[in-house]
Amino acid sequence: MEKKIALTGIKPTGLPHIGNYIGAIRPALELSQTCEARYFIADYHALNSVKNAADLRQMTLEIAAAWLACGLDPQKVLIYKQSQVPETFELMTLLLAFTPKGLMNRAHAYKAMLQKNKDEDNEPDFGVNMGLFTYPVLMAADILLFDTDYVPVGNDQFQHVEMACDIAQSFNFVYGCEGFRIPQPMAQEETKTVVGLDGRKMSKSYGNTIPLFVGEKELRKLVMRIVTNSQTMEEPKDPDICSIFSLYKVFATPDEINDLRQLYIQGGMGWGHAKQALYEKMNEELTPLRARYEYLMSHQDYIHEILNDGSHRAHKLATTKMAILRQIIGVT
Ligand code: ADP
Ligand code: TRP
Repeated sequence: MEKKIALTGIKPTGLPHIGNYIGAIRPALELSQTCEARYFIADYHALNSVKNAADLRQMTLEIAAAWLACGLDPQKVLIYKQSQVPETFELMTLLLAFTPKGLMNRAHAYKAMLQKNKDEDNEPDFGVNMGLFTYPVLMAADILLFDTDYVPVGNDQFQHVEMACDIAQSFNFVYGCEGFRIPQPMAQEETKTVVGLDGRKMSKSYGNTIPLFVGEKELRKLVMRIVTNSQTMEEPKDPDICSIFSLYKVFATPDEINDLRQLYIQGGMGWGHAKQALYEKMNEELTPLRARYEYLMSHQDYIHEILNDGSHRAHKLATTKMAILRQIIGVT
């Protein structure tokens, strides 16, 4: 049987954090064991917020190094830069003709901007550029260009993948053919939303992240900063509403999780103990990754080489797909 195709992208908008790792990178790498995988750096997506060339270059390298440090094998997984696959932008133009404006009006990111403007007494579209408004169409182009079956992403991206399905289905219906494969978003229940230091979703936009490759000392400091309630050491605690425990669950084994759960329930365990346990599990998994990341960041030519090679191969695949689509719509 032919292998299914998995694809995902990460925007180079800042240092990769634990949410990116648990929500996107780690599941994507697991999926690459059984699927043909295509993972990329979404640099044109980043342009909406990063408008400094040196920063964009640096953050692109950091995301590529993060993928490699976390175990991506460039011999097996296609890794590339979105900007080096220009067919993406041609496909986006094509898809715009199949995207109702109303669909974009319903996008969470756009709606959040409208709400923010309302709360701050601004014009509804203040600060909204067309890049933000059409963001889901560019993402649909990324996905549909490579005949993607599965898209491993965190919860926040599900709506975008569902929009890609809607747009693809509309195209297939109009031309009465399977021009596009219909993709499926994928996430494990436990890792859909990783919480940050303040208990909200961990996100660069909230400033509540634990960067993936911080040094040991800094990692411990950050873990100790996770917000908790004021329950005393003696009181029994509910693990299922606790940020520390929810992070612990994504790093520990089932037995370790069960042991910590018992300590919560029976009482006599302080927050400091739970935080120390979390720090140790995290540090155990992240230590080898951190070392590889540092090595890679001091060998940037190697990263460029990998990205150029991958982008070249991605570009070839995209050329073939675009030629088929051009035939279908009648421009060739
Ligand atoms: P951020 O919200 O920090 O800007 P991105 O939007 O760049 O992060 O996310 C890149 C990938 O990481 C996406 O697949 C996204 O769903 C995933 N991701 C980001 N934050 C989290 C989180 N807190 N929990 C689970 N997945 C996440
Ligand atoms: N929008 C995603 C994010 O903000 C990044 C992304 C761009 C992506 N294109 C994609 C993810 C295609 C999956 C598939 O995190």
